[in-house]
Amino acid sequence: MEAFFIQPARRLEGVIPVRGAKNSILKAMAASLLFRTPFLIDNVPHIVDYQQMENLLVSAGVLVERVGERQVRLTPPRHPESTLDPEVAQSFRSSVVLIGPLLARTGKAVFPYPGGCVIGKRPIDLFLEGLARMGALVREENGIFTLSAKRLIGADIFFRKVSVTATETLMMAAVLARGKTVLSNAAREPEIPALAEFLNLCGARISGAGTSTITIRGGAKLDGARRVFRIIPDRVEAGSFAILAALRGGRLRVANCVPEHLAGLLAALREAGVFIECGKDWVEITAPKQLFPVNVQTREYPGFVTDFQSPFMVLLTQAVGMSTVFETIYEGRLEYTRDLNRMGAEIILCDPHRAIVVGPTPLFGRVVESPDLRAGLAFILAALVAKGPSTVQHIYHIDRGYERIEERLCDVGADIKRVACAG
Ligand code: EPZ
Repeated sequence: MEAFFIQPARRLEGVIPVRGAKNSILKAMAASLLFRTPFLIDNVPHIVDYQQMENLLVSAGVLVERVGERQVRLTPPRHPESTLDPEVAQSFRSSVVLIGPLLARTGKAVFPYPGGCVIGKRPIDLFLEGLARMGALVREENGIFTLSAKRLIGADIFFRKVSVTATETLMMAAVLARGKTVLSNAAREPEIPALAEFLNLCGARISGAGTSTITIRGGAKLDGARRVFRIIPDRVEAGSFAILAALRGGRLRVANCVPEHLAGLLAALREAGVFIECGKDWVEITAPKQLFPVNVQTREYPGFVTDFQSPFMVLLTQAVGMSTVFETIYEGRLEYTRDLNRMGAEIILCDPHRAIVVGPTPLFGRVVESPDLRAGLAFILAALVAKGPSTVQHIYHIDRGYERIEERLCDVGADIKRVACAG
């Protein structure tokens, strides 16, 4: 097992580049099952979830070849395996996005209930209902689901809840289905139009991606020859760096990002008194002398998204006055605040969704365990702000979505070591 040993940071300065988005590449890879020809993916982040998805695709018969430092070629098999490797599929939530393409392509998808970050209930009812509306027969036995449909048929699907991965899964399935599919109350996260644009380039007919109504005309024959899916910058990583800069800059430039994708967060940072300058593909943050309290409520994109909730909480512990945080998306995503309190924060959990933060309180270095990907990064931020060294354990959660985070933060002045630890 590995841990991060983190010394307090005085001032972080310079340029920190953002890598390709985890939540875009995983869907780009899943889409390979819709193809009969190879295509390239560029701007590949070196993260554990990428590797997991690669393992899963390989077990389905896809040939995955690295053709450069940040490029891979995916060659789909003539007859993909319909059964996902249960051990790998269970280990990360995004495995569920494969079920749409797999079912559409092979007529069958066999998979276990997907696992992943423990941030609350993560049902798959929207996926199953949507695919059933497209004609799939859904069976479940001992935790293994089997979906079957000779050919999916386009349908009008209204999502009772806005879901990113359900939108992506059904959009991909609909590309090969017979007839027209209309997805209403769809998610609008930037990873969705990025996926749709690439599929359209290869022959799909998707319109409206990035809005809440997506129309897909099915029956496409996708051709990826000479096509490259360039993965968009990771907006969650970019935003987390911006929050860190607001806490410990100097002046820090977050490079290779899309400022527009961060609008919800940047508005909250401005409200906290942070000075922000934006260029075409960068954001420059100057930490203020004093941070002001802010009341935030997580929302679907383009609002203040749930993935910023935990790093922003760390910022609020340093703001002068009382802030409130309302986590509306997940009911298990405030648990980590107990450890922030052990570090010296004063966060009152009112219920599983609501917290009051009283600041500023000095934070003190402690040994903490990363409970999930985003809270793990929040602990790194807290450790950089704290007095005295901290150890963040269970960092495999962090490695799932952030490429060599310690090296990149050290490049801008942090002192973080990856160390082996028992247990
Ligand atoms: C995506 O998860 C992201 N993951 C998450 O990032 C992100 O936090 C989340 O969207 C934001 O909404 C990927 O893209 C791989 P949802 P997703 O389905 O799609 C409920 C990270 O760390 N719901 O949009 O799994 C669900 O319980 C991850 O990168 C149902 O009720 O989330 C939640 O309350 C964590 N039934 C809400 O919808 C379903 O069938 C939104 O979840 C599906 C979801």
